[in-house]
Amino acid sequence: MLIKRIAKRDTPQVSQIHRDILKTGVISHMGISFLEKFYEILLEQKNIATFVAYEDNKVVAFATAAFDLKSIPRLIIQNLWQEILISLFKNPFLLYKLIQMPFYPSFKEHGQIGEIFSIAVLPQYQRSGIGTNLIMRCQKEFKRYKCKLFQLSVRRKIKSANKFYIKIGLEKKNQGKFLGEDIVFYQGKV
Ligand SMILES: CC(C)(COP(=O)(O)OP(=O)(O)OC[C@H]1O[C@@H](n2cnc3c(N)ncnc32)[C@H](O)[C@@H]1OP(=O)(O)O)[C@@H](O)C(=O)NCCC(=O)NCCS
Repeated sequence: MLIKRIAKRDTPQVSQIHRDILKTGVISHMGISFLEKFYEILLEQKNIATFVAYEDNKVVAFATAAFDLKSIPRLIIQNLWQEILISLFKNPFLLYKLIQMPFYPSFKEHGQIGEIFSIAVLPQYQRSGIGTNLIMRCQKEFKRYKCKLFQLSVRRKIKSANKFYIKIGLEKKNQGKFLGEDIVFYQGKV
């Protein structure tokens, strides 16, 4: 397994994995061209880093680490408004979720805490240590950002991911609700 920082050529594969594996998230519903542009924009941000895992000469997993995650809703609105309008035209029900997005607790000010925005491993490559290695790579990045802690959130009903976070030593901090779903917040040391 090779883990490296995302390059522009990886963005189509990362977008596809994001859409297929993290399918319940708001931005997955925005469609593949939105996701591709989203990851291209993240490439230019100094406080956000995406890492990809290569196996069999292709991207099989990725994780996005951020410091100051609250910049993401602004980035989306400023740079992706055309893609948003197209997605809303196709699916007007997305408007409610989109309006709520900036209020997601992870997008609030957290001080010197890093955040894992997303992590996904293709099913046939799960349980082989890739997720653990991606988290470790993100921790190294948080060190660069001078964070002492990092956090992430996950829907409570995704049992496998909750088990994974506990297994890798993260601590359950609190629980909340977002768009009617129970969300668990985990924290780890850098
Ligand atoms: C959660 C996820 C990122 C874990 O990645 P992974 O590469 O499979 O994890 P690892 O192989 O590093 O697993 C490390 C340990 O975590 C635990 N674990 C991982 N997946 C698990 C599962 N499905 N069920 C129970 N425990 C699990 C195990 O203890 C595992 O060690 P073991 O395989 O030796 O028993 C991956 O399964 C995934 O992409 N899931 C779908 C997307 C998702 O839920 N993302 C998180 C949303 S925020």
